[in-house]
Amino acid sequence: MVLDGRVQPKLIIHGGAGSSLKGKGGVEVVRHSLFKVVEEVYAFLLSGASALDAVVRGCELLEDDPRFNAGTGSVLQSDGQIRMSAALMDGDRRRFSGVINVSRVQHPIDLAQTLQNSPDRVLSDYGAAELLRELQIPSYDALTDLRLQEWIQERQENFVKTMAGVVAEQELVEPSNARRGTIGVVALDEQGRLAAGTSTGGKGFERIGRVSDSAMPAGNYATAHAAVSCTGIGEDIIDECLAGRIVVRVTDGLPLLVAMKRSFSEAQEHQRDFGVIAIDATGAIAWGKTSEVLLAAYHDGQQIGDTLEMSEEPIVQGLGDGG
Ligand code: GLY
Repeated sequence: MVLDGRVQPKLIIHGGAGSSLKGKGGVEVVRHSLFKVVEEVYAFLLSGASALDAVVRGCELLEDDPRFNAGTGSVLQSDGQIRMSAALMDGDRRRFSGVINVSRVQHPIDLAQTLQNSPDRVLSDYGAAELLRELQIPSYDALTDLRLQEWIQERQENFVKTMAGVVAEQELVEPSNARRGTIGVVALDEQGRLAAGTSTGGKGFERIGRVSDSAMPAGNYATAHAAVSCTGIGEDIIDECLAGRIVVRVTDGLPLLVAMKRSFSEAQEHQRDFGVIAIDATGAIAWGKTSEVLLAAYHDGQQIGDTLEMSEEPIVQGLGDGG
């Protein structure tokens, strides 16, 4: 919708995907966390912020929430260290930037933002640490007691989980209740520009040097036509080249919901485990999951909604003209 030459901004965010949240109490707490971020970032978009700046703001807020596996509250790798990855994509300029396996920083997404205007736009561990020093960003410890306890428990159980918990809870998650963690934000601003950002502590307990999908175009991608952020098992997302695949389909002319449905039906054939949030240039918002739960919330210009109690079928849903 265009009013006085301005587009109605749209916003969708996620705090991961995984297996069922425990009970209604869990749902309400996560909903409260997500809605707070949606309210603040949507107001920022209404004040004229660019999609890129709104995405960065939303990622910072989610990185600060210890419930989610990004920034503060990131999971630990096999050696007990936190290494985080983040990416930012400006759909308008079709420009990707990111950091891979960076430590001791509060907001990895800020590094990705700085790199948007650098000739070298994706930096890994040593390079990202050097950038932190150059920018004189204070050293920050993202470790929380809950994540440490989780790592100790898993170490005792010899790393049986495929992935660490996406939401930090007051009691440790059971191995059978493993969840997938990442945060992500996708926005359309009032000038019709799209952007996507994704940040993660990784899948937890992984080998040193493992690279997350979140800092690849497989997990975070945008053009002027669509923007997508993924969450879930990084290897599954990479194998499907999921964000890039959905965005290219929309860029080539498919409606967003059709592009999502086609990509998800292919993914289901391969038993993938992930969730996706997306917006297209018409203002259509879409989300989908092959995992049991997708922790996402959105603002469509009229109201806030969420996907926390999304039914099993259909696995792809949306609002607007994208399908
Ligand atoms: N999707 C987060 C990761 O696998 O690293």
